[in-house]
Amino acid sequence: MPVCESLQIMSSAQQISSAANFLCEGGVVAFPTETVYGLGAEISQPLAIRKIFDIKGRPADHPLITHIVTIADLEYWANEIPETAWRLAERFWPGPLTLILPKSKYIPLSVTGGQNTVGLRIPRHPIAQALLKALGRHKAIVAPSANRFGHISPTSASHVEDDFGNEIKMILDGGDCEIGLESTIVSCIDDTVTMLRPGGVSIELIEDLLNRKVLSRAQNNSPRAPGSLSAHYAPTTPLEIWPGGGWLLSRVKLLHQQGMRTAILARATASALPYAEHCSDDIGSYNVIMPNDPATYGQKLYATMRALDQKGFDRLLVEELPDDPEWLAITDRLKRASFSSPPPSHNII
Ligand code: TXA
Ligand code: MG
Repeated sequence: MPVCESLQIMSSAQQISSAANFLCEGGVVAFPTETVYGLGAEISQPLAIRKIFDIKGRPADHPLITHIVTIADLEYWANEIPETAWRLAERFWPGPLTLILPKSKYIPLSVTGGQNTVGLRIPRHPIAQALLKALGRHKAIVAPSANRFGHISPTSASHVEDDFGNEIKMILDGGDCEIGLESTIVSCIDDTVTMLRPGGVSIELIEDLLNRKVLSRAQNNSPRAPGSLSAHYAPTTPLEIWPGGGWLLSRVKLLHQQGMRTAILARATASALPYAEHCSDDIGSYNVIMPNDPATYGQKLYATMRALDQKGFDRLLVEELPDDPEWLAITDRLKRASFSSPPPSHNII
């Protein structure tokens, strides 16, 4: 369905085929994956790759993930592939896992930010799969998340349109993303396995499969992963994380006394009920009940933050989540979203 003369939002088979042609001609196409929407260029199109960095406002040394069509091409795109990487790829591809490996000569340095390693992933969203298949073997789509640098990733076609409606000509619409958070990134260089970004595949599943411990970035002198910047994935409205119950409630009251309008994101637990009582338009607060299970919470988080960003609140207050592996990826994103606006201290309320 064209929404304006210059931008098309679409998803039929024929439209996927035109999107593939457009990519091969050097166009930039936004497309859905099961994690978030990507802003894609075909890997042999340097001008399109350049355009992605330009319109995102992304520094040139921040590498892009290369999305490939089949595991059979892994040796085409990467060198020195350790056995661990093969096992991870066979178990989790297509899916929300990016593997960092030594790059082959077919990956341009413009994609990797000058590094000799590449991030590779086979997405499982049917539209992403169809688009990659339409391109064919030995073609690939390099794509960051389709948001402006540092902002919240898009989980629907309309989010992409909000960020880039004036700059791109084509968005493939795959509805709301199933996972809603970016892929897990695991580095498999020199036979160490290091988690660079938690995401859709949990560390436990990876450790169970490999029967070994996965290192954290801190333990492995960190291969450079600029997306692991502390401040990232942030809404425009300052976001604070507070322990639930009395802490959060006291913070809300204090901000209201200072004349601030707040939105609270708390899970549907008994401890969230007091916030509901203290929320009303009169005092300028708004309570969003978030799902209790991590999968649904993660799926809704970015859309919720984007929607709240439109409402002109002075603060987003998020109830702290359990310190539990299944909440790890969400907590990671919330901490980065709150980085530029940390609460003064949990003691000062
Ligand atoms: O789920 C996802 O991963 C989405 C979808 C579109 O695939 N993509 C995504 O891309 O989140 P982006 O560019 O927003 O984040 C990719 C992260 C960045 O932090 C980048 O630094 C890191 O992957 N990365 C890519 N190649 C790398 C490499 N060779 N070494 C270390 N980190 C790398
Ligand atoms: Mg991103």
